[in-house]
Amino acid sequence: MWTYPRVLAHRGAGKLAPENTMVAMRCALSHGFHAVEFDVMALKSGELVLMHDAELGRTIAGEGLVIDLSASELAQMDAGSWLAPQFAGEPVPGFAEVAQFCLAHDIWMNVEIKPAPGMEHETGRLVAAACAQLPIGRVLLSSFSFTALAAAHIVAPEVPRGLLVERVPPDWQLQLHKLHACALHVGAAFLDASTADAVRQAGYGLFCYTVNDPAEAKRLLNMGVDAFCTDSIDVINAEFCDIN
Ligand code: G3P
Ligand code: MG
Repeated sequence: MWTYPRVLAHRGAGKLAPENTMVAMRCALSHGFHAVEFDVMALKSGELVLMHDAELGRTIAGEGLVIDLSASELAQMDAGSWLAPQFAGEPVPGFAEVAQFCLAHDIWMNVEIKPAPGMEHETGRLVAAACAQLPIGRVLLSSFSFTALAAAHIVAPEVPRGLLVERVPPDWQLQLHKLHACALHVGAAFLDASTADAVRQAGYGLFCYTVNDPAEAKRLLNMGVDAFCTDSIDVINAEFCDIN
């Protein structure tokens, strides 16, 4: 069962601010969002930062692996100007800084564990340990990595977990059971009504990513989807599920 917020700002503030940055969190808040999804990666140093891509090149200039850098090096880099010049110099934030901001402003967090290849177990372990330090009920972990979620469960069984999949696999119920997960997070384009029914009948929360069209959001809610994240926080507001 889903007991969490129902509309989440994806990667902080969707497309309105550079993903996974502090300015994105402030932007979500200014749009009335008190629930966000963002991606957390463990570096080889063991530090946790907000980052989607394993490689430099898209949101920060350069080449090579993000995990080879330190958090202080990433804090000097420009993770904003790829989106618009007004965001030039916006740094890659550490997880602790973002979590403190979210707690201070009553923003609920869906922390997606985003391991670099080969770092699945370690990333799950480190992110879960960090989240276990936060007040209960403020965080839901999720990941495409079964290994990361299994490690998270060992370290911090009290921090809830959702399994992320693009398409629902035939053994979804077994995977959720093994992970002691509370929810299935599914690519919105690939969810069908009978699978949605089966997930909810089994007692799990059902979350979809990434829903940017209000008509699509309504279709999914009618199908029984509990919650979703969106890039369109200027079009789909935080109360969307209450009024539709
Ligand atoms: O958590 C939902 C969504 O963020 C998963 O995809 O690639 O945007 O992290 P991605
Ligand atoms: Mg994500």
